[in-house]
Amino acid sequence: MKIAILGFGTVGKGVYEIVKKANVQTQNLSVSHIFIRKNKKRVLPEMTDDIDEIMNDKNTDVVVEALGGIEPAHEFILSALQHGKHVITANKAVIAVYLKEFTDAANENNVKFYFEASVGGGIPWIQGLEKALRIDSVNSISGIFNGTSNFILDQMTRNGQSFAEVLKQAQKLGYAEADPSADIDGIDVANKLCISADIAYNINIKDRSKLPIFGIRNIKKNDVKFFEKNGYSVKLIGTTHQQGNKFDYVVEPKLFLNHTLEANTPDNYNLISLNGDTIGKLDFYGQGAGMFPTANAVVQDILDIVEEKDHLKRNFDQKMEYSPELTSGDYL
Ligand code: HSE
Repeated sequence: MKIAILGFGTVGKGVYEIVKKANVQTQNLSVSHIFIRKNKKRVLPEMTDDIDEIMNDKNTDVVVEALGGIEPAHEFILSALQHGKHVITANKAVIAVYLKEFTDAANENNVKFYFEASVGGGIPWIQGLEKALRIDSVNSISGIFNGTSNFILDQMTRNGQSFAEVLKQAQKLGYAEADPSADIDGIDVANKLCISADIAYNINIKDRSKLPIFGIRNIKKNDVKFFEKNGYSVKLIGTTHQQGNKFDYVVEPKLFLNHTLEANTPDNYNLISLNGDTIGKLDFYGQGAGMFPTANAVVQDILDIVEEKDHLKRNFDQKMEYSPELTSGDYL
């Protein structure tokens, strides 16, 4: 199976490295192209700035979109699907807006569109959610969805560092987005919560203008110290509940008593929980950001295609209304 990687940042590089590993090569995976922008230096023979060459290459089976952002990622994903190529992406910003469009295009062209790495980094969250949905209604989802903000709050709590200092570290470690305001203003969590709610409730959240989204930008070293002194840790949390044809949705910092799982979720880790009617509460925990955990999830999707393991089919056409009333302070 031949793979074209679009973009050679944190995720693109990680996918390239993992595909080169011997145990993955036994599955006959190889990288045919790496798309880079015109002004970037070609340092590998697979690199090209000609997207048409990739789309028209009949031998390329899978396109891994690792450019990030909305355009040209949206245009390239659609084009790849229309050219009969499977597409895998970790790009939550573009999926949060176009999940239904990509799914429809994949179905029309008889190819797969998989996106495990878009939520929870290396945690098999989408797979876990889809598995729960084979039997259950999932009536709520909640948790820590952003590695960068968790790393920042954790370092501020443990080492007493300032917000700005720790943010720089998170960028160096490859956790933060190209524009880290998405991480610290709750936008990245909002994208991941949208994708999760779309799958869980089979809906298509298009308009986010009414949804409450708060970040951690204004949390100071002294706030964190005060919470700590009183036995609490602060975490950036995304939560959604469903009741009949209504759902709620909020992204906000919350306080957790120091003995809870949330308070003990360190570094770049994510902790995402769902509640299903027979499975009850299920927690998913692991590295939610970083080159190799994220790239691992991308390559897992590639292997699902090789092994013809189908993911849950959703058409995202249920109609549901956003209702802030459901958020009654309950967590999950
Ligand atoms: N910037 C994201 C995070 C990367 O910190 O969680 C993984 O989606």
